Amino acid sequence: MITGLDHIAIAVPDFKKAIKRFMEDFGMNIDDREDVVAAKTSTAFFPVADTSVELVHPLNGEGPIAAYLDKRGGGLHHICFRSDDIEADVERLSEKGYQFLTDTPTFGAHNARVIFIHPKSCDGVLIELNQPAE
Ligand code: CO
Repeated sequence: MITGLDHIAIAVPDFKKAIKRFMEDFGMNIDDREDVVAAKTSTAFFPVADTSVELVHPLNGEGPIAAYLDKRGGGLHHICFRSDDIEADVERLSEKGYQFLTDTPTFGAHNARVIFIHPKSCDGVLIELNQPAE
């Protein structure tokens, strides 16, 4: 079951500059900076209220975020809903015809289990589901 809005992710071409903006200009605290090697993505999380803003940047200049930035420059990349049972949600949504970018959940930032619903299944929006590590 979806239980919350875990985060909203913005793809940024200049990671340092974007982190500086959120810290210094917006006055938000950085919670964590983490490279997710499997996703070829560098991430930075800024908690706000019950959710977070995630900045995503290509790790070593490659991967899906690099392709996104090449195509569109920076922009709103995905939104992420928190799940209390990601397997059950994937099964339920698959039965309804939703397509996912991977067959099963993988490990993302903070060791959460994550899976992305294909934007074609959601009016062009990339939606991540995540189940935080226990
Ligand atoms: Co995310």
